[in-house]
Amino acid sequence: MTTLKTIILAAGQGTRMRSTTPKVLHKLAGKPMLERVIETAQTISPSISIVYGYQGDVVKSALSHYDIAWVHQAEQLGTGHAVKQAVSQDESADQILVLLGDTPLITTKTLNELCQKTAFNEVGIVTVHLENPHGLGRILRDENNHIIGIVEEKDASDEQKKITEINTGIMLLPTHHLKQWLAKLNNHNAQKEYYLTDIFAMAVAENVAIKNVSPQFTEEVMGINTRVQLSYLERVYQQRAAEKLMLSGVTLLDPARLDVRGTLNCDKDVTIDVNVIIEGHVNIGRGTSIGANTILKNATIGENVIIESNVVIDDSLVGNYCTIGPFARLRPGTQLAEKVKVGNFVETKKAIIGEGSKVPHLSYIGDAELGKHVNIGAGTITCNYDGVNKYKTIIHDGAFIGSDSQLVAPVTIGEGAYIGAGSTITKDAPAKKLTISRAKQVTIEGWEPPKKG
Ligand code: UD1
Ligand code: CA
Repeated sequence: MTTLKTIILAAGQGTRMRSTTPKVLHKLAGKPMLERVIETAQTISPSISIVYGYQGDVVKSALSHYDIAWVHQAEQLGTGHAVKQAVSQDESADQILVLLGDTPLITTKTLNELCQKTAFNEVGIVTVHLENPHGLGRILRDENNHIIGIVEEKDASDEQKKITEINTGIMLLPTHHLKQWLAKLNNHNAQKEYYLTDIFAMAVAENVAIKNVSPQFTEEVMGINTRVQLSYLERVYQQRAAEKLMLSGVTLLDPARLDVRGTLNCDKDVTIDVNVIIEGHVNIGRGTSIGANTILKNATIGENVIIESNVVIDDSLVGNYCTIGPFARLRPGTQLAEKVKVGNFVETKKAIIGEGSKVPHLSYIGDAELGKHVNIGAGTITCNYDGVNKYKTIIHDGAFIGSDSQLVAPVTIGEGAYIGAGSTITKDAPAKKLTISRAKQVTIEGWEPPKKG
């Protein structure tokens, strides 16, 4: 078994992003681009080093949850210099896989092909033909079509600039040779940089075979330098995600207007209307429809649920056959059993709501447990907060809360209890009785409307 270590180059500042955030922390589909490269690298080998430089502490702390060796490159003297920082003389891995922190869409499939094609003592590289190769290193080949070197744009002759096959920067290198080649690099070139690409001519001189593979899609190996390029790759990513969903049985009213910034698992016959955003891990059950302008984050939505437009659901569970919205907000800790209705302008938080219960309009239900078939009248508020602590409201099965009531927690409403509309309930209400707490209605005889003085 050959052993492999991945080095991700991420020391560049990324000036063209015009940002105080390091380039590699800019997000693609909700995740820093460097994190995407790390996750792909992890599918190939567990041993990963990242060469960092510009605002390294920020990068490191953003990704501190990964088991990674961080290698500091104080001055960005070129890609060869960068790799050298991460390959010590006693490096024991047989091969080094070089990835770029700003090339986020590289796939496991392409890297596996590279690894399969390149023996442990050979050089492997991912190349691609581009219509516009401007600015990139060109692959030089001899009359037998063997790779004989790489020339950077700035060092290239007019003839070489016509070459459309480019170096993606992604390579698989034999460590034993690499150590010697890195020691021999110089910066005698147009950019006064230590070019990693110079090792290709060295490999040729030593008769080390060079293999190459190409990605299925060019976008996989596109590097990001500007926010324009980032937005382009974002669209590519989203288009792929949408196509995958549709092919797995999801109807998207417009595949260009869904954004998956996390993972979305859908059962068959889910329908998603336009401008929906998915964050974190979201699961949607069979036959459920999601209305326009809805945001689902870390949510599990059951089967045959109807989510109307403009709903925000965060860290919540929605049971089968529920109907939600339009304009509802389910905040963390909301758990709806089957056939629950949460209607317009309703906010829930840490609310456990039993089967068949209804909160149809204009309510706040927080820190509450509702049994089955409870009906919450319009404008009902659970007053869960005294300014310091939070308290719980418990409403038992079949209770009916009249409109515009305030339930001042901690408070319990008994099974089948009725609360008269407009009540402020501060004490427990007994089961199957009508509890009411409002002043009696009076009409004042002899009252005159005020007159202008
Ligand atoms: C490099 C290649 C070029 C290739 C292109 C693909 C060299 C000499 N040139 O170009 O053939 O077509 O990538 O994008 O290798 N980095 C460091 N430290 C440094 C310099 C760069 O970590 O000192 C990192 C950058 O953060 C970036 C990557 O290496 O992630 C590539 O650097 P960049 O400057 O974008 O590429 P070029 O050198 O222009
Ligand atoms: Ca450069």
